[in-house]
Amino acid sequence: HNKPIIAPSILSADFAKLGDEVNEVLAGGCQWVHFDVMDNHYVPNLTFGSMICSALRDHGITAPIDVHLMVEPVDNMIEQFAKAGATSISFHPEASKHINRSINLVKELGCQVGLVLNPATSLSLIEESIQELDMVLIMSVNPGFGGQAFIPSTLDKIKRVRAMALKHNKNIRISVDGGVNQQNIKSIADAGADTFVMGSAIFNQEDRKLAIEQAFAQLVT
Ligand code: DX5
Ligand code: ZN
Repeated sequence: HNKPIIAPSILSADFAKLGDEVNEVLAGGCQWVHFDVMDNHYVPNLTFGSMICSALRDHGITAPIDVHLMVEPVDNMIEQFAKAGATSISFHPEASKHINRSINLVKELGCQVGLVLNPATSLSLIEESIQELDMVLIMSVNPGFGGQAFIPSTLDKIKRVRAMALKHNKNIRISVDGGVNQQNIKSIADAGADTFVMGSAIFNQEDRKLAIEQAFAQLVT
């Protein structure tokens, strides 16, 4: 079993003081930083590029930076984020013309690699690549915005991805992204996820440390 990881999504942070925001949630016990990169093309919203990733590294942040690319095409952004200090890079398979080439590019650049499934994307898009992957990121909302409601059918999808990984003897991380909160995190873990992206359920709370503790408390078995 992989150790549970909470990856706060900085999409819901206060960008005017991003370094402090990231340090606060890391001090509160989160292990990774989740980085939502949107291009107003693959998704109908625009966020930030690799400069912000470099800026956090220059600010002294050493925690893993988990980059979620919601961009099309992906390869150019893979290179930029790897150089900017990303630890893992995940992309949506339908946004790459050559999925295996993009996966290899992430690995050659020394990062861990993940593929992302949208709510209506079939598992078949990742099955041919499962041996190559460090992580599968399962979207539990349609990508583009923070603060949306968790789509319940995701729980069954997590189970199916975990079963697929087991069938291939592959111990990947299964990360779930969108609408994860202190109330549903346990059911998400029980379905087979070990990595939990949380945006509004941490950053929109008055007491972030307490919000993080309450999330981890649900994961103690
Ligand atoms: C959505 C992003 C998510 C989002 C999560 O496209 O990939 O990471 O910010 O935010 P919450 O936890 O608020 O749903
Ligand atoms: Zn994300």
